[in-house]
Amino acid sequence: MAQKSNFKSPARLNSLEGGAGSSTGTVPSGKIREVPLGGVDFDRRSFLGKVVGGIGAVVAASTLYPVVRYIIPPAQKEAKEQDEIVVGKASEVPPDSGKIFQFNKDKVIVVNNGGVLSAVSAVCTHLGCLVQWKADEDLIFCACHGARYTPTGEIISGPQPLPLAKFNVKVDGDDLIISKA
Ligand code: FES
Repeated sequence: MAQKSNFKSPARLNSLEGGAGSSTGTVPSGKIREVPLGGVDFDRRSFLGKVVGGIGAVVAASTLYPVVRYIIPPAQKEAKEQDEIVVGKASEVPPDSGKIFQFNKDKVIVVNNGGVLSAVSAVCTHLGCLVQWKADEDLIFCACHGARYTPTGEIISGPQPLPLAKFNVKVDGDDLIISKA
């Protein structure tokens, strides 16, 4: 019978016990095995990581972009404010009446008090309700909390802290024209 002559040979023992010639070695009991890292290509791994991360970012951005655009609509271009606007026809405000018109961003009430036109902000200076013309009392009235103003916007009575802002109004032909005061 053949004998395993090299089983206990110094070279074999050396290789089994982590001798100097071993590339990985064995770990004597109680010691942490050190894993050799020489075979790992870190450049390739980090490159692949970046590629995967980049693809993920592109997918996330293409998914989120329409959602964000839906939630936040594009800013609308502000219309340029005009100093003077034909808001309607003079016949829309007959004597002893008042009517609210849009002037740029403002709501303006035009009052025809016995043939005399005036225009003031239609927004009550108390808490912002829209005012109305009260023909039977010849005054501008806010129904929310009872503020009273003259036809030209001065305070008569009520909780409002300030008079109504004034605007200019004129008639040209049949055009009713409001302009900044
Ligand atoms: S909002 Fe006009 S009186 Fe209060």
